[in-house]
Amino acid sequence: MAKQKTIFVCQNCGYKAPKWLGRCPDCNAWNSFVEELAEIGHRDRENRQSALDRPQRIDTVTTDTETRNKTGLREFDRTLGGGLVPGSLVLIGGDPGIGKSTLILQIAQRLAQHRLKTLYISGEESVQQIKMRATRLSANSPELYLLTATCLEDIIERLEELAPRIVVIDSIQTIFTESLGSAPGSIGQVREVTSRLMNLAKTSGRAIFLIGHVTKDGAIAGPKVLEHLVDTVLYFEGDGCHMYRILRAVKNRYGPTNEIGVFEMLDSGLQEVRNPSNIFLEERGSDVSGSIVISCMEGSRPLLVEMQALVCDSYLAMPRRTTIGVDPNRVSVLVAVLAKRGGVALSDKDIFINVAGGIKIGEPAIDLGIIATTASSFLNKPIPRNTVTFGEVGLSGEIRGVSHTELRLKEAVKLGFSRCLLSKKSIRTLKGKITVELIGVSSVTEVLEVLFA
Ligand code: TYD
Ligand code: MG
Repeated sequence: MAKQKTIFVCQNCGYKAPKWLGRCPDCNAWNSFVEELAEIGHRDRENRQSALDRPQRIDTVTTDTETRNKTGLREFDRTLGGGLVPGSLVLIGGDPGIGKSTLILQIAQRLAQHRLKTLYISGEESVQQIKMRATRLSANSPELYLLTATCLEDIIERLEELAPRIVVIDSIQTIFTESLGSAPGSIGQVREVTSRLMNLAKTSGRAIFLIGHVTKDGAIAGPKVLEHLVDTVLYFEGDGCHMYRILRAVKNRYGPTNEIGVFEMLDSGLQEVRNPSNIFLEERGSDVSGSIVISCMEGSRPLLVEMQALVCDSYLAMPRRTTIGVDPNRVSVLVAVLAKRGGVALSDKDIFINVAGGIKIGEPAIDLGIIATTASSFLNKPIPRNTVTFGEVGLSGEIRGVSHTELRLKEAVKLGFSRCLLSKKSIRTLKGKITVELIGVSSVTEVLEVLFA
């Protein structure tokens, strides 16, 4: 095959050059050139199916997204929005060593058990190494095939021979195409390989999983540069010290985003966690100050987690505000609101906020919890253990309602909580019978009165 012509394109302004340049002569950006195929638009046109070229009436278009393949791993299926859609390209990103290969091998095994021929292609490990891992996970379905390959052209050839329904590529950074001269893992390579695989998935109806390592350095392409190319982006989070891993959908063309799945890493692979709130509250201490349980929404599911605060005298000119699991800027704002509207003097205190269990939350509904637990630690007065809370706090100290009040309350009832602190407005929107004692508040001052007076 004749080598295709490639050019280098500035990612900042689109300037084209036949050779790589350190600085763009047009827009003066440094290190912005990425190798691309010269006649990319032309080639695409040839590949496209003629049917797709013509406009179609919307009522004559048929879809087959409802024929989803379930893996049987419920947490995984729910993250995908109810199962794997044939012909979709799913990117799974995460730090090295978090368990991506383990998860996908387990998924591959389950799909193979459902008689879907599955090919697991690794560019990192030999077939023997994968087999060793597979033995730990008891993955031995006769429909599961393994291959070590790094060249895209070879892979496409093997795919045509074997004709699998599901393909796994571990990892995208190790695969290269012969038509580009740049090194495997460079932005140009990763992007070209992904768009070729996307085309393959769409034309053949095969579902393809891509694994991508999150890298700090922008020059070595991470999953971020691929997000717009693929159908679904899942991130596998968690830190090495905790056994729990969270799979989060950040983009999904076939389902809701922000849906999460919770897993536990065991000796025998990843085990799904059916009731995550239980595990996040498992190790809660007895009545101490600076602790309250909050109800936050992760996708369509409410999750109860413990919000902890520690307020102590500071010996620094600029007291510390350290947070784990929540945005530090949000905490700074809330501390200021608590000082100004609630009259709690915190300017000479170090404040530490922690979400127990290693989960990260970005929802505004955690505000009320942060205010309550910070005040509790400052006053050294515990909040009763059976209290759960959620609500947004505004700059004038007002407590605002949040979405899904009923769902959050139901989860709290399920876990045995009997009191809930929430905004007065949220209570008014409630319909039906609620078995929890509802404490409505409308300002930070009221929160302090209700909890600590
Ligand atoms: P791995 O899937 O290789 O991570 P990634 O592909 O994201 O780089 O697995 C990471 C860790 O998981 C590894 O340190 C060992 C551990 N592990 C278990 O605890 N139990 C198991 O059953 C397996 C297969 C791995
Ligand atoms: Mg791996």
